[in-house]
Amino acid sequence: MTSQRSFLAANWKLNPVRMGEAVDLARAIAKTARACAERVEVALFPPFPWLPSVARALDATGIDLGAQDCYWERTGAFTGEVSAAMLSDLCEWVIVGHSERRQHFCETDETVNRKAAAALAAGIKVVLCVGENAEQLDAGRTEAVVEEQLRAALRGLDPKLVASSLVVAYEPVWAIGTGRNAEPAHAGRTMGLVRTVVTRESGAESVRVLYGGSVKADNVTSYVELADCDGCLVGGASLNAEEFSAMIEAVAEAGE
Ligand code: 13P
Repeated sequence: MTSQRSFLAANWKLNPVRMGEAVDLARAIAKTARACAERVEVALFPPFPWLPSVARALDATGIDLGAQDCYWERTGAFTGEVSAAMLSDLCEWVIVGHSERRQHFCETDETVNRKAAAALAAGIKVVLCVGENAEQLDAGRTEAVVEEQLRAALRGLDPKLVASSLVVAYEPVWAIGTGRNAEPAHAGRTMGLVRTVVTRESGAESVRVLYGGSVKADNVTSYVELADCDGCLVGGASLNAEEFSAMIEAVAEAGE
């Protein structure tokens, strides 16, 4: 762990379907997160329509809110899009480059770069996702893939903003939603590479790096204890208030 507080980010993906459930989940998580706030920074990433009501539920809790994607143009004829500039009125964070967006929604390294640049320009902090798929892992190409994704995503970004407002989440695609979490040694090696590449390519003095992929209460400490890990990006386990609260508590204890 390199920074003082570990960061636990909850990516709710396309869940929950009902707004009331989203608010209840946020409130339940907030209880534990507030109690552990000295040691753990928590951010919730609900679907777009739930952002305003979850924002109200998190008011004065110190827990951050983020969106799962954004568009790079501020405004205009782009039906269905939500701009980073619009999000800046609602939340502090946005995820860009999640592998599900790369896989299902034609996200490319270039659009990831545009989105990251637009978010930083709008004053929003970025969780930039990178990671190899199973085929690339088997071919021993993890480092090459991650390096290429980072290089493309960081092109032209202000090094000061990268250091202050960008976090990289290393999420191996084969570990997402599969229950096959990466060996801490593999994750640690790759997060070390992420840190090296980001500081070298962007000129940023430092960067925070997270691990994501089948993180649960019973394995979260094996990541946050790694030298190059500043926290985790959690999917499925963050939809269960008890499980996610147990993760927050486990990370808080690991930091004692
Ligand atoms: P799971 O924790 O469900 O594997 O999802 C990880 C993820 O994609 C977070 O962005």
